[in-house]
Amino acid sequence: MKPADRPRKTQIEDLKVGMFVQMPGNWTQHSFVRSNFMIKNSDQISKIAKSGFSEVIVNPLKSQIRPEFNKRPKYDPPVKTGHMAEVDLGPPLMPSGFHDFLFDSTVAPKRKASHLYEVCLHVMDKVLKDPNVGNIKQFKEGVSDIVDLLLSDQETATQLFQLTSRDHYTFTHSINVGVMSILLTKALYGESTPHDMRELSAAYFLHDLGKAKISDELLYSTEKYTESERKVMEAHPMDGYELLEEAKLLSVESKIILSQHHEREDGSGYPQGLQGEQIHIYSRICATADVFDALTSRRLFKPSLPLYDALVLMKFDKGLHLNKEVFSAFVQLFKYENSKTAFKS
Ligand SMILES: [Fe+2]
Repeated sequence: MKPADRPRKTQIEDLKVGMFVQMPGNWTQHSFVRSNFMIKNSDQISKIAKSGFSEVIVNPLKSQIRPEFNKRPKYDPPVKTGHMAEVDLGPPLMPSGFHDFLFDSTVAPKRKASHLYEVCLHVMDKVLKDPNVGNIKQFKEGVSDIVDLLLSDQETATQLFQLTSRDHYTFTHSINVGVMSILLTKALYGESTPHDMRELSAAYFLHDLGKAKISDELLYSTEKYTESERKVMEAHPMDGYELLEEAKLLSVESKIILSQHHEREDGSGYPQGLQGEQIHIYSRICATADVFDALTSRRLFKPSLPLYDALVLMKFDKGLHLNKEVFSAFVQLFKYENSKTAFKS
């Protein structure tokens, strides 16, 4: 076989109608019926991009058009997320001395958790109001410290988990879902998470990043959405995904959290209507935390549900369509010995 005839990895932006592609992984990781197929229209290219993959394999011998593999000598290397000096980060996002404070063993866990929560709120406020590359990069670096703390200091993690049951601020939802998702991932995977926990955690915190594109008027509206307003609201998973894609930040698995966190097991979710195993486990984790926080939070248009009532509602799946195994692990989070009295509501 000539070198030019060999199947090879191709960036999504280089795909064209007429190319024969092979999707990475198995069929559960994308929304196509088959993993190997000819691209028939540009919608399919968009759908491949929305599956979260940055590249697929193109088979030249089965393609109707000849892929121009050598047109670009090299694709632009991705931004190395650990190298903060590569972009102008703008003003510092995290408060000075934050790292030292987090790992200061003389600070009581309750005080540490409380301060950490306030810092998270402040920082989340800034990132969601101005989701530029500098802010997102700094946020990701800051989250690394928070994740290290949550994974190593059970007492502070428990205190922080308690704080997620109250909702007095605009941005608590992102923090609450972030903290709960990190601890749920830890409960499910322990130390053997196959992906970078810091990357995942940044995505959990930023799961609603796409809402930065929605006007406050619509975001805080107490009226029933019109059809066009509903479409704007339901665009936020992909808007968030695209913000991270443009910024060349976070791994594919992490970005999928943003695009799939409103998908539901029975296919009733959005934006793609994925079902069951088509939904990534990290997205299922985020969806579980997201639903719980939505049920237990007080909003302008609805009272909060007591914690127990929310868990009962989720258990009997009253139209929520969450993954049952993930939900079981979620309930266990409330059963830590030192949390027994903390979560009574
Ligand atoms: Fe959302």
